[in-house]
Amino acid sequence: MTTPSSKKRVLSGIRATGRLHLGNYLGAVKGMLELQDKSEYETFYMVADAHAITTPYDTKTLAQNRKEVILDYLSAGLDPAKSVIFVQSMVPAHFELSHYLGSVISVNRMLHLPTYKEKVKQYSDESSMALLNYPVLMAADILAYKAEAVPVGVDQEPHLEIARQIARNMNTKFGTDFPEPKIFETVGKYIPSLLGDGKMSKSVDGSFINLTDDPDTIALRLAKVPTDSGRGESVPIKGSVANLLFFVELFQGSEDRKKYEDMYLSSGIRYSELKMDLAKAIFSVVEPIQKKRIEMVKILDDVINDGAKRAGNVASQTLLEVKQKMGF
Ligand code: TYM
Repeated sequence: MTTPSSKKRVLSGIRATGRLHLGNYLGAVKGMLELQDKSEYETFYMVADAHAITTPYDTKTLAQNRKEVILDYLSAGLDPAKSVIFVQSMVPAHFELSHYLGSVISVNRMLHLPTYKEKVKQYSDESSMALLNYPVLMAADILAYKAEAVPVGVDQEPHLEIARQIARNMNTKFGTDFPEPKIFETVGKYIPSLLGDGKMSKSVDGSFINLTDDPDTIALRLAKVPTDSGRGESVPIKGSVANLLFFVELFQGSEDRKKYEDMYLSSGIRYSELKMDLAKAIFSVVEPIQKKRIEMVKILDDVINDGAKRAGNVASQTLLEVKQKMGF
């Protein structure tokens, strides 16, 4: 098989299900940004619109949602001069490859994935074959580029395990040369929910702050975070107060966190002040992204069309190699 260029390849994606929140930004986009600036990597970043149809969705908003994700990427600093930025469904080789890869992994393995079980619980009447096949399509997304590094949050690790298993099985059975892709983690690899339990998630109201939120919305969302009396014998290590302190550390630094921890053990924290400062700090991170968004609209269509061509060249080459090895 042809070897990829001497650079290591990177692939990542975000589903086209709505606006990006801080979890997507800190857990995935920050990692994407870091790798696009390293000369030893060749980076491919897509919007996973085909993955968006694995749970109930609205046909009227899908096309807009995928544009919004690309706009969020560009505004956050993904650069078409450094990365191939594209829409998954515009590179049909992913879907064909997904079919071939599906032949080396068992249904049973898919049925027992925690991510699948969670979604089935959430959408019991509407769990589809596309949902069961989600991780195989994700493996195709990654292996189409022979990517070695995948900047995603830790919630995606079970899917990466499937991609590695598929890569191994393909290599053993058919002599392909897929590398085993590994997660590329950031400090924000797990951003907790504002509500205290679980992770920040688009599907849980009140759990998230969006990249496009204005200062008032951010303040309002933080105002709803449940708190305690602000004082006690030990600083909470889980729940919404612990999460607030984690956000302080992420956006204001560890010194501020320490200051609040000391206050918790002595005079007490005034949460209204903490939340006001935190809202300002969060807005200072998202504000430049929001400003850049307006300019990026102009280049959006060119980026999408160019990205589809560049990604398509690589993915169709891999597909051809796989078909030859598999005897087609
Ligand atoms: P999606 O849209 O669910 O999530 C997009 C990215 O955001 C990360 N993320 C988080 N990170 C930290 N803390 C959180 N609270 C948080 N919430 C979300 C996710 O880990 C993810 O990196 N399956 C992917 C989409 C996909 C993909 C791929 C990714 C399709 N094909 C190929 C990589 C490679 C997903 O769940 O997207």
